[in-house]
Amino acid sequence: MIVSVIGVGYLGAVHAAAMAELGHDVIGLDVDSGRVAAMQAGRAPFHEPGFEEILRRGLAAGRLRFTTDYAEIAHADVHFLGLGTPQRADGFGADLRYLEAAVASLAAVLPARGGAPTLVVGKSTVPAGTARRLRAQLTAVPGADLMWNPEFLREGFAVQDTLAPDRLVYGVAAPDTPAADAQVALLDAVYAQLIAAEVPRLVMGFETAELVKVSANAFLATKISFINAIAELCEATGGDVTDVARAIGMDDRIGGKFLRAGIGFGGGCLPKDIRAFIASAEDLGVGEALGFLREVDAVNQRRRVRVVEIARELLGDLAGRRITVLGAAFKPDSDDVRDSPALEVVSRLMSAGAHVTVTDPEALDNAAKRVPGLVGEPHTEQALAGAELVLLLTEWREYRGLDPVRVRNLVAAPRMIDGRNVLDPGVWRDAGWEIRSLGRGA
Ligand code: UGA
Repeated sequence: MIVSVIGVGYLGAVHAAAMAELGHDVIGLDVDSGRVAAMQAGRAPFHEPGFEEILRRGLAAGRLRFTTDYAEIAHADVHFLGLGTPQRADGFGADLRYLEAAVASLAAVLPARGGAPTLVVGKSTVPAGTARRLRAQLTAVPGADLMWNPEFLREGFAVQDTLAPDRLVYGVAAPDTPAADAQVALLDAVYAQLIAAEVPRLVMGFETAELVKVSANAFLATKISFINAIAELCEATGGDVTDVARAIGMDDRIGGKFLRAGIGFGGGCLPKDIRAFIASAEDLGVGEALGFLREVDAVNQRRRVRVVEIARELLGDLAGRRITVLGAAFKPDSDDVRDSPALEVVSRLMSAGAHVTVTDPEALDNAAKRVPGLVGEPHTEQALAGAELVLLLTEWREYRGLDPVRVRNLVAAPRMIDGRNVLDPGVWRDAGWEIRSLGRGA
């Protein structure tokens, strides 16, 4: 089967390489010629474990290539849409321009197939109603139709999540019709190996499929903000949020995952997706239904401010103080700094006049582009030298495993704020550190 993937950002690039891994002939398309050239040369434009390996394998096998030219993908049987839907500059809603432009460009070249069946499959996270509107852009193209197949991959686990997902969700214009059945069969053929491995596959209407994706992300964000709200209570009472999370998580109905309290969620998905979900509910006249998501967002923002308050509690005035921040990425095993809680804390510390040194194994280049004047130091020990306060803000394995005795000899004063609750406070205190965590006592 010949497959195209339009938009080879994070989602699209991984999807393209994964489809080649499944044995398809894949052409990835992007308007960014630099990105296309890098991937054609086998270079991953972002850090993602295992991605470069499958990218190179696909290229070497001749099953994967990249282009900027829509004419080169016109002959594909299936076109996946992997374009970004960022937060709109003028508000909370999702910016769908890239998707709309891609479908328009595709519609212009598809008549070259002479009416042969062609399936366009949306993967981006979109407000309910988008798939139906995009499908309307294709009505004039004989043989073409659209499905919605949201993607649930996590950064850091993207390859594994694409090739062995928890479930496949297929959205169709009209379930249980012959047209839908034919489309489902075609997409099943694309994912034949996953279906054979008994990955559950759910077929539903467009709007439901769109809602599944945003609901999943909103639920995850809510879980994180719930435990971070409890962290505020723990700080006010002397309780320990990590024990609360462990204990409530042992109830199967609650589940222990995504209950890690700390400086909160960031990245290119959860923050913008809950805001787009709120905007979409308001557009639909049911804004009250998602009013609680504003609170989820507010709790999340407050944690970033709280870390800086704790820094002030430890140091007093921050002006001129030497602070080292461990971690810039929005989460470990990623070089993504979009809406990174760590970087927002860095910016706030810098605005307060602190001399901040940031270290991160992968994300320093991206961080420097985001935060003007950022001082980055790739080597952890050099970054720690002379610090009056250390903040652990992204829980890379190498920071979780730091030896408090060794590090104490590098810093000017042994003070630590564990923004991710990954260090054992007792061990650090025994090694002579003053350590503060989020949601663990006053
Ligand atoms: C998220 C979802 O988890 C994926 O299922 C989804 O496909 C993806 O968005 C998307 O829509 O594309 P991702 O953004 O890669 O994936 O990151 P997560 O693992 O969800 O983490 C998001 C943020 O929450 C990170 O900043 C992380 O540090 C934070 N987090 C996570 C916590 O603060 N506590 C937790 O317990 C878990």
